[in-house]
Amino acid sequence: MSSGRILLVGASGFLGSHVAARLAHRDDVLAVVRPTSDRRHLPPGLAVHEGDLEAPQSLPLDGVDALVYCASMALPGLPSLVACLERAGVRRAVFVSTTALFTSLPAPSRARRQAAERSVTDSRLDWTILRPTMIYGTARDRNISRLLRALHRWPIFPLCGDALWQPIYVEDLARAVIATLDTPGTIHQTYNLAGAAPLRFSELVRTAAQAVGRSVALVPVPLALAVVAARLTRIVTPEQIRRLAEDKAFAYAEAARDFNFAPRSFADGVRLEAAALGLAPGARPVSRL
Ligand SMILES: NC(=O)c1ccc[n+]([C@@H]2O[C@H](COP(=O)([O-])OP(=O)(O)OC[C@H]3O[C@@H](n4cnc5c(N)ncnc54)[C@H](OP(=O)(O)O)[C@@H]3O)[C@@H](O)[C@H]2O)c1
Repeated sequence: MSSGRILLVGASGFLGSHVAARLAHRDDVLAVVRPTSDRRHLPPGLAVHEGDLEAPQSLPLDGVDALVYCASMALPGLPSLVACLERAGVRRAVFVSTTALFTSLPAPSRARRQAAERSVTDSRLDWTILRPTMIYGTARDRNISRLLRALHRWPIFPLCGDALWQPIYVEDLARAVIATLDTPGTIHQTYNLAGAAPLRFSELVRTAAQAVGRSVALVPVPLALAVVAARLTRIVTPEQIRRLAEDKAFAYAEAARDFNFAPRSFADGVRLEAAALGLAPGARPVSRL
C-alpha cells in the first residue's frame, strides 16, 4: 500500500463511494468533491477537499503520494490533471477507464477517452489503468437496478439481439482498485476487468428475474425497430440500443495473475443486488437511495 497521502477523485460517485469505504480506515486519505456533490454516500469521517477537475491546479497535490481516479476519463480536465500531477511530483496513479473504448460504434466520447488514456500512458507517472465493463450492484447503478425493478413489475421483457454481456459487481471492482494500488507489479499496465464469465443477454435477464423471484417471457424485437422506437421515444438513444446488441465479453487473465482478481458470477452479484433493493423473494422494500 502506498505510504503517503492518497487523493481520491470521484468519491461521491457510484464506484468511488465503494472505494472510499475501503480506504476510510486510513487517516491519510483525502477525497476531492465538488461543492455540489451529494456527500450522503461518503463514509463517515473521510476528509474532503472541495475542488473541481475543471481547475486541476486548485487540487491539493502537495504531499500526495498516490492518486485514485474514479471520475470519467472523458472529462476535458484529465490531460491537465496529469500534467499537474507530474509537476507536483506525484508518482503513483490508478485511473478507472472503461471497456466502452472497444465499441465498434461511433461513440462521441471514444476519441476523448482514448486521448485521455494516451495522456496517462505517455506520462512519467507510475500509472495503472483499469477498464471495467458495465458496473452494477446497488440502487445507484444505472442499469441492473432498473432491470430488476422492471422484472419485479412486468412478466415480459423485450430482447433486442442476444449479445454477450459480462457486468462487474461494484465491490469486486472497488477491491481491484485497492489491490492495484497495493501491487507494484501493476505499474505501467492496463487491465480489462469484468464479471466471472460472459453470459447472453437472455440468460442475464432470466438470472435477474430469478433473483427477484419472477419468471419472464422474452419477446424478440428486431434491432431496426428498436432503433426507430428509440428515435421516436427518446427514452434511450439509438446508439444505446445498438450497443445492447454488441458483444461485451472481456478476458481478465492478466488481472487474475497480477493481483488475484477473482470476480463473482452475475448470479451471485445480482442476488445481492436484489436483496439490497428489497426485491428478493420475501424481502421488505428498502429505500431507493
Ligand atoms: N457505471 C458504469 O457502468 C461504468 C462502466 C464502465 C466504466 N465506468 C467508469 O468508471 C468510473 C466511475 O463510474 P461511476 O459510475 O462511479 O461514475 P459516477 O457515479 O458518475 O461518478 C462520477 C464521479 O466523478 C465526479 N466528478 C465528475 N465531474 C467532476 C469534476 N469536474 N470535478 C470533480 N469530480 C467530478 C462526480 O462528482 P459529483 O458527485 O459532484 O457529480 C462523481 O463523484 C468512470 O471512469 C466511468 O467512466 C463506469
